Amino acid sequence: MNAPTRFAPDRVTPSAPDTAPLRRFVRDFADLLDDTDDLDLILEYGSTLLARLVSHGGWLPEEYAQPHPERYQQYLLHCDSAERFSVVSFVWGPGQATPIHDHRVWGLVGVLRGAEKVQGFGRRDHDGALVQQGPTRDLLETEVEAIDPREGDIHRVENAFADRTSISIHVYGGNIGAVERATYRANGEERPFVSGYANPALPNIWDVSRTA
Ligand SMILES: [Fe+2]
Repeated sequence: MNAPTRFAPDRVTPSAPDTAPLRRFVRDFADLLDDTDDLDLILEYGSTLLARLVSHGGWLPEEYAQPHPERYQQYLLHCDSAERFSVVSFVWGPGQATPIHDHRVWGLVGVLRGAEKVQGFGRRDHDGALVQQGPTRDLLETEVEAIDPREGDIHRVENAFADRTSISIHVYGGNIGAVERATYRANGEERPFVSGYANPALPNIWDVSRTA
């Protein structure tokens, strides 16, 4: 009879994923913001960068992909040192949804796993209630959408699936967890909102020895 294995670290500790795609993304995004402050260019080229990032999901560490049983999670993955942009993973449990909310900075949303339903809101009616802006749209896996405050940035988002987790990667033009913004009731009533983040620690994307 063979002696039992006493310790097998590679089996009890899942190996961390290669975060090189996220590292490359934040480098490229910082370069983009060094090159231009033209919002049209930022959204156009930023969308291309985010589409590449969400084209496969192996780089996202599992701790930043965990749903919460009661509410959606927003994990900070990276914040630019000058807070010009931040990158988060947004994790939706089955059927979870945001309240109606705004952003007050530009944003990009790319779906990494699953799908989302997005409903925009535009002008207010004569009673002050928010009016839906077009139909509810599906944002599918690998698709990217821009949030442009010049065109209106109020929306409600939900997991398109009632039976599984969805994950999207968002980029915002600021330290989004600290931005003073608002949620809205359907009657238009506005409430101050600062989202914060679900995680106390960031993923280590800078250990280049792992991929050297
Ligand atoms: Fe949003």
